[in-house]
Amino acid sequence: MDILTLADFDLKGKTVLLRVDMNCPIDPKTGEISGTKRIEETIETINALKDSKVVVASHQGRVGNKDYIGMEQHAKILEKLLGKKIIYVEDVMGSLAQSEIKKMKNGDILLLDNLRFCAEENYEFTPDDAASTIMVKRLGHLFDLCVLDCFPSAHRSHPSLVGFANIIPACAGKVVEREVRKLEEILTVAKAPHVVVLGGSKVADRLEAIKMLIKRGRADQILLTGLIGNVFMRAQARIKYPLGIKGEDDAVSKAHALLGEYPDVFNTPVDVAINKDGQRTELDVRLLNKGDQIYDIGQKTIEHYSRIIASAGTVFISGPPGFFEMENFSIGTKSLLESVANSMATTIVSGGHLTSALKKYGLVEKITHISTAGGALVLYLTGEKLPMIQMLEKAAMRTRVK
Ligand code: 3PG
Repeated sequence: MDILTLADFDLKGKTVLLRVDMNCPIDPKTGEISGTKRIEETIETINALKDSKVVVASHQGRVGNKDYIGMEQHAKILEKLLGKKIIYVEDVMGSLAQSEIKKMKNGDILLLDNLRFCAEENYEFTPDDAASTIMVKRLGHLFDLCVLDCFPSAHRSHPSLVGFANIIPACAGKVVEREVRKLEEILTVAKAPHVVVLGGSKVADRLEAIKMLIKRGRADQILLTGLIGNVFMRAQARIKYPLGIKGEDDAVSKAHALLGEYPDVFNTPVDVAINKDGQRTELDVRLLNKGDQIYDIGQKTIEHYSRIIASAGTVFISGPPGFFEMENFSIGTKSLLESVANSMATTIVSGGHLTSALKKYGLVEKITHISTAGGALVLYLTGEKLPMIQMLEKAAMRTRVK
């Protein structure tokens, strides 16, 4: 690894900015956090910093979405998990945040509010421009060390991810260290055929990564489910009505181009399960009508996909095929995860939802690597250098040269 870790620094008495990814699923009806896995993941690094003053920072959700909330709930959960008081500050870079940070003593843990409440944290920057943002200018001088432990956000180049580390010493936390080591190990032995199972709802991000996965030999077969599957079925004219999602025309035309360029790579569902007053009704995709709510893949699709998974050398699955939190619509997720777990392949399961599902179905032990990262991991597998990892490498070089 070309990056530094906590073991490379004397941490005692230091004021540390710990950038984590506590971006949790939020129940749109209640506004409550519905999965705490990413908060749990921060504990190991926070504990390793027990002799420092630890300023924890994370984003949550995207502007305009229902999951765009403050960090109060995260603070309470963190407090419970650590059994220790958390100083929660309803501020990111203003005078309140700055004065609370200055007051901290060794062993204190402070949680800043949602970083994306600052406009700058919603834009991509070059490292030098990120270092000149107001956020980094106002807070940077308060820290001795920046610990980046947010692998799920490693594909973003926001100020907190590439700005602070450009001006102060920086290293990876425990999550990033483990992910990078394990993935480097896996990718050197990964065997073909490479089967990629993609679901979930971040369609634009997925479309960006798919072409690179194919071109770089990381996806011989792509099995589509979820919203991305619907977009491809729309591009195939097997779904005949608009899906009503943001950026649909652009997404469908990109999917159309990919299908034309790589006709033998993509597999889309032949049947789906729709939600009719809470009941599961399976039907052929060609029989779908406008207004039908697709909540899962159907039995024939499960069988088809499972056969492909069984013959894979490497399987990567990201994003759930259905609303597995609802018993009636959990069959697709459970069955595909079982197929992945029982295959002889090297297996990587990605994203918060599937990580929770693996736990629920008792399959954790049978998977080669499990990561709460979604989009970042997909991009990592394409061989693309992630901005946050690049920044850690640059910071390591700077420290070693000194
Ligand atoms: C994720 O959940 O994939 C990360 O937290 C990044 O979130 P983003 O896609 O909103 O940048």
